Formats: sequence, structure tokens, C-alpha cells
Amino acid sequence: MSNGFSRIPSGIRGLDEMIKGGFPFPSVVLVAGTAGTGKTTFGMKFLMEGAERGEQGLFFTTLSEPTQWMLRYASQFDFIKKEYFGNEVKYEDMGLLLQREGYEELLDFIDDKIAENMPQRIVIDPITVVGAFFEEEYRLFLFELTNLLKNWQAVTVLTGEINPGEQYPAQISYAVDSVILLTMLEEEGTRRKYLEVLKMRGTDHTAGRQPVTITTEDGIVVLKSRF
Ligand SMILES: Nc1ncnc2c1ncn2[C@@H]1O[C@H](COP(=O)(O)OP(=O)(O)O)[C@@H](O)[C@H]1O
Ligand SMILES: [Mg+2]
Repeated sequence: MSNGFSRIPSGIRGLDEMIKGGFPFPSVVLVAGTAGTGKTTFGMKFLMEGAERGEQGLFFTTLSEPTQWMLRYASQFDFIKKEYFGNEVKYEDMGLLLQREGYEELLDFIDDKIAENMPQRIVIDPITVVGAFFEEEYRLFLFELTNLLKNWQAVTVLTGEINPGEQYPAQISYAVDSVILLTMLEEEGTRRKYLEVLKMRGTDHTAGRQPVTITTEDGIVVLKSRF
């Protein structure tokens, strides 16, 4: 291919049209937003799309949430097929590891799990929790993580939780190929959700905030795609 990139569809309806067909493969994508903007839903939809296509997915949570928790979360959405868990989609809880080990052990764990499963799609949700545990070494961790991911043939979605009022996690943005921002705005008494592609290395993309909705059937959907 002349531009050197192949792509994989994100699975988020309307987003692929905004980014010329899908995420450059391989690459690392940051999906940032405040609580409740749809980051976990985004990551799950991305993995479910892969599973439907026979690709392998790997979901790391940093939150000490056991598989049971994830299955309960999954049950609110029709698009999440439970039968994929443990098969096409592997779920790994890094909560305890974060509390007990250093950042190098964490990197080794991630690398080992990737080697074991050989996924085309990886999610780490949310990556920002690592920053709370390894303040000093967070920058180094992010640098080494993105370096490690370059050795594998996969698209990785890192979710970044931001505090209200904060713009986006600049620290992580340096290290990744692409940044997608999810926002929630109060307008005329209604809370509206938006998605914006801030940067995407290796492709043109639609600029500006695009309205999104979260539905039981499809998860997060860019609204323009409905017209
Ligand atoms: N079945 C559903 N239908 C529509 N919206 C839902 C459903 N389940 C959750 N939501 C909405 O999805 C959002 C939560 O998304 P989530 O991916 O957990 O956010 P984040 O990970 O960014 O905190 C909330 O705003 C919630 O209201
Ligand atoms: Mg979440």
C-alpha cells in the first residue's frame, strides 16, 4: 500500500467515515473524557467489532473489577455478546498488580498477556489510574508502554479519565498516535455528548465536535451517520 498503512474499522458507527475507513493498523489511540462520556463503551464496541470479524481482543482494566463486574456491565448493552468473553475477548484485571507491584512488573504483565493471546485489538481502561499509582514514573511508564506496543501487530485503545474542567491528558497525548476526545455539554438544560478527533497520525480526519449518542443496541454512535 502506497501510504504504508492498513486499517481496521473502529466498530463505532459514523467514526470510520470520519477517519477514512478506520484506525491505522498498528497504532495507539487515546480516548479521553470525563466520567460517563462513554470511554468504556467505546472500548467494548471496538473489541466486539473485532470479535465479530474473528479477531482476538484483550481488555485490561486497571480498576480491580473482577470478570463478574464486567459481565454485569455488559448486560446493559445488546452489542456486548457474553459468549465472546474468555474466547475472542480476554479480560484481565490489573487492579491488584497496580497496588502491589512496580511499573516494570506492570509492563511485563501486559507484554506477557499480549504474547499469550496475540490480539489485534487491545484496550487498557482507564490508563490514567496508573498515573495515580506511579506519579514519578508515569511518564516513563507511558513511554515504555507505547514502545512495547510497537512490537505487536495491534491497535490499542487507551482510555483516559479527565477531571471536569481539565482539557485533555497532555502527558498521554504526546506518546500516542491518535487522540479522540469525548465531551459532555450542558445545553438548554439537556446534557449532550460529543466526539472529536484531535489528532490521527497517518490519516486525514474530520475536524470538530460531532454529536454522539449512547444506545443499548449499538453502544456509542456518531449521530451524523444516521442521516
Ligand atoms: N443501555 C444504555 N443506553 C443508553 N445509555 C447508556 C446505557 N448504559 C449506559 N449508558 C450511558 O453510558 C454512559 C456511561 O458510559 P461509560 O462508557 O461507562 O463511560 P466512561 O467509561 O467514560 O465513564 C453514561 O452516560 C450512561 O448514562
Ligand atoms: Mg469507564
